[in-house]
Amino acid sequence: MNMATTSHFKAETGPDKILTLTFDKADTATNTIDTDVLLELKAILLELKSKPPRALIFTSGKKNGFIAGANVTQFKDAKNIQAINDLVSEGQKVFMLLEELPFPTIALIDGFCLGGGFELALACKYRIASDSSKTKLGLPEILLGFHPGWGGTVRLPKLIGAPKAFDLILSGRTLSARSAKKFGIIDSLVPLRHLNRAANHYALNCPKQHVASKLERLTNIDIIRPLLGRVLYKQIAKKANPTHYPAPYSTVDNWVKCGCSTDAHSAEDASFRKLMVSSTAQNLLRIFFLRDDLKKLSKQEINIKNVHVIGAGVMGGDIAAWAALKGFNVTLQDDNEQAIAKSFKRARSLFTKKLKANHLVQQAEDRLIPDVDGFGVAKADLIIEAIVENKEVKQKLFRRILEQALPSAIIATNTSTIPLEEINENLPDKKRLVGIHYFNPVAKMMLVEVVKGKHTTDKVYKAALGFVGAIDKIPLPVTSSPGFLVNRILMPYLMESFILLEEGYSMEEIDAAALNFGMPMGPIELADTVGLDVCKFAGESLANYFAGSIPQTLANKVSIGELGRKTNKGFYSYKGNKIHKKKVVTGSHNIDEITDRLICRILNESVACLREKVVATTDHIDAGMIFGAGFAPFRGGPMNYTFTESKASIVDKLSNLATKHGDRFKPDAGWTELADAIGVGKVI
Ligand code: NAI
Repeated sequence: MNMATTSHFKAETGPDKILTLTFDKADTATNTIDTDVLLELKAILLELKSKPPRALIFTSGKKNGFIAGANVTQFKDAKNIQAINDLVSEGQKVFMLLEELPFPTIALIDGFCLGGGFELALACKYRIASDSSKTKLGLPEILLGFHPGWGGTVRLPKLIGAPKAFDLILSGRTLSARSAKKFGIIDSLVPLRHLNRAANHYALNCPKQHVASKLERLTNIDIIRPLLGRVLYKQIAKKANPTHYPAPYSTVDNWVKCGCSTDAHSAEDASFRKLMVSSTAQNLLRIFFLRDDLKKLSKQEINIKNVHVIGAGVMGGDIAAWAALKGFNVTLQDDNEQAIAKSFKRARSLFTKKLKANHLVQQAEDRLIPDVDGFGVAKADLIIEAIVENKEVKQKLFRRILEQALPSAIIATNTSTIPLEEINENLPDKKRLVGIHYFNPVAKMMLVEVVKGKHTTDKVYKAALGFVGAIDKIPLPVTSSPGFLVNRILMPYLMESFILLEEGYSMEEIDAAALNFGMPMGPIELADTVGLDVCKFAGESLANYFAGSIPQTLANKVSIGELGRKTNKGFYSYKGNKIHKKKVVTGSHNIDEITDRLICRILNESVACLREKVVATTDHIDAGMIFGAGFAPFRGGPMNYTFTESKASIVDKLSNLATKHGDRFKPDAGWTELADAIGVGKVI
């Protein structure tokens, strides 16, 4: 074999007999590992085993990073178990081969080093990284419903001890190069220009390999593992239900049983194969690809540098801060100077949290300018309105904006309920208005609905999509209709929870039913968190369009000023961050019936939105509800859940609920047009 000419690797031997193996995956901009890559790497390593160089330096030929991980498209099809099994066992074998090579092996890391890429680096004797802010290391597999499968769950605890290793593996978080050095994962951290020199030093001098400290080693011994395991299980249980998310539990099970022994590799291999074909992993993988698809929509050329935000309230202040954080020059306008001052205080803590370094925080602060008089309107490439949710007030403002704005400026509203056609009813130029609808809290919520009105031009719409991408959010294309997608679907769910309360169900059991289903928070707690005044307002606005009414219990709370978390009293009472919840008394009511009522309202409204073409595809319903409302991710979204349960059974449930509880459960007309399976029903 001529190693220098393999399709994914370039091998070069220097005068010191040090072999540099550059991974440069063919026909793609990013290095990922698939079966093809593993087979090539195996052949190379076998040859090196028989003809050893002085040392092996493993590096990347890509500018953007080392290795992004396994190529997850290979895991997408659970039915193709053979392909999944081949990939897993090949990876285990190849990394074992790498680990056992009898000469120094050095991973040279610049940029991302994630998942399978990180596992490859762990199988090397040394890891040297650039100190660039782009260098990130981590094992994000758990976020996709499985755990590392190429030795990561064995080699990492061995290298740095169990507590630090499981902190990383169970959270899926990534570390900066500096933190990875502190963790003991990186042997040497150097400026990019010194990377090669540092690698040669390691290759020639073979310094002592990093090993876990005595205390770290103790965490892996037989008598400690079950004790530490109990602590880990407790921590996991706070975040993940084992039926919904089995991967973290399997990770700890394997380690408690086998520690870091050779058996642990087989245990990792076996549970990885099982997890990979589970519905949780398959649904989470699908969501991963949905996110990618939506992100692709935002890959648009944009000509936006200056952004002007009007309204420095809960939303506008944070919208402005986020845009400044992402590099835009932002002016923030509000009639109320105090509102601007408050927004700036929040912006500073956002910048400090995200950017850390003082000079970067200062630069972000310099990009955000208070603008009580609204001078920024005349200079802005994009103007985002986030004032009170009142059609007439918004119309008046937009008329003024249109007089002052650049002819090329894009004009956007953050309205949460009002269709664009109503806002621009009497405006001279309707073509430039687009909806850019953020969710609260702006810094945390990744989804932004991008609303195309009847008159919005493609150019304006694409620029809005591009802007959402440029601020690192996920755009969801929606048409202009009341409440757009997420609020429209969420509202019936929240209203049903209030109706249940009025019928005598306790708030704890209502919330427990939603949590059992897999929602991150129950609807009553969610309403308290959003603010009961906001819920009442949104509920009433939508009720105006869809002929409904809001439950009296919600109106009563608002009228006595109990607005939720922000007033320390809503349906629940709060002390600081602590919520006062009574224990759920089981057996008093049928929890499944509560779940059905809550979830069926979501499913029926989802289908109504499809029928009305609020979004184009069932995939967009799923992505919107997961990224915008936290709908049980492991179920893959409302439509995926519908198809998993079967469309017929959901329609049956709705019909039965309609007989018992009224017309709000009557199956929407859209059910008859809906296909029977996901994919088939992509566009209805
Ligand atoms: P808010 O009441 O917190 O802030 C509105 C701000 O606009 C106030 O500071 C007020 O002084 C200012 N303002 C009012 N009229 C103005 C004018 N003519 N010129 C300049 N400033 C003016 O309201 P919030 O909650 O931030 O909502 C703003 C918009 O965002 C609304 O359209 C709302 O529907 C939408 N939205 C709200 C969400 C929420 O959770 N609060 C979520 C998503 C969208």
